[in-house]
Amino acid sequence: MATTADQLREEVRRRYAESARAVTEGGGGCGCGSDSCCGNGDGDAARFGEALYDAEQRGALPEAAALASLGCGNPTAVAELNDGETVLDLGSGGGIDVILSAKRVGPTGVAYGLDMTDEMLALAQQNAREANATNVHFLKGVIEQVPLPANSVDVVISNCVINLSTDKAAVLSEMARVLKPGGRIGISDVVAEDHLPPEERAERGSYVGCIAGALSKSEYEAGLKAAGFEQISVEFTHQVADGMHGAIVKAFKTSTRERRGLPVVASAGKSGCC
Ligand SMILES: C[S@@+](CC[C@H](N)C(=O)[O-])C[C@H]1O[C@@H](n2cnc3c(N)ncnc32)[C@H](O)[C@@H]1O
Repeated sequence: MATTADQLREEVRRRYAESARAVTEGGGGCGCGSDSCCGNGDGDAARFGEALYDAEQRGALPEAAALASLGCGNPTAVAELNDGETVLDLGSGGGIDVILSAKRVGPTGVAYGLDMTDEMLALAQQNAREANATNVHFLKGVIEQVPLPANSVDVVISNCVINLSTDKAAVLSEMARVLKPGGRIGISDVVAEDHLPPEERAERGSYVGCIAGALSKSEYEAGLKAAGFEQISVEFTHQVADGMHGAIVKAFKTSTRERRGLPVVASAGKSGCC
């Protein structure tokens, strides 16, 4: 029987709840079995997780926050963040990028983390307390329906989460809705080379392991354009499987639509993306 989108999302939630529990009990986030979280084992240490942050950033974090890192890049290194800005991290996990962003935007700024997994939210809150980060808020919800008002965020970041979504067009659309006009995204994600069809992506790794659900480079670019972004770039940084890469995705929310009086929000599923 085919797996429905709801079943897939529940499988993702269970896997990351398991991963958060493993960290809370003193283990590593990916130590709960092959394919149970981003990556497939020890050989993935350089391609996923805390190794992608520099020593200074790791030193500024509680150990559990660094251990809980399950990303495929370092979005705080690619998104320029300024004092007083509002940042939203989609799929914030153990909170590593929210805590680092909170430091960068300073006490007059705010960093929000959004995640659907209770165990991850609890871990992130504990990590933020240990890091003495006060300008952080963790929200429970799904990235396909962000619980924040339109035009309220300066920067959206995300680390290895959009590939896990079962409705990527809705996620891209929600990013455009919550961003202020001219707002920007700095995202790390797994991205496939364009010649690789979805079946071949699925042969290279599981959905919960951040491989099978990855968009291709041109799918990402087209999806962002349809959702209302401009100055889009998708750059491969390191290979994570044959024909699949950790990538940095950057773009700006276009303000021209608003100037022309057109709605910025494309409705979910209509962007022609994915
Ligand atoms: C691979 S981990 C990455 C966590 C974090 N960004 C990091 O770099 O360590 C994926 C996270 O995204 C969350 N997640 C996956 N799909 C989601 C969705 N549709 N809505 C909200 N959270 C989601 C999971 O609960 C998990 O915490």
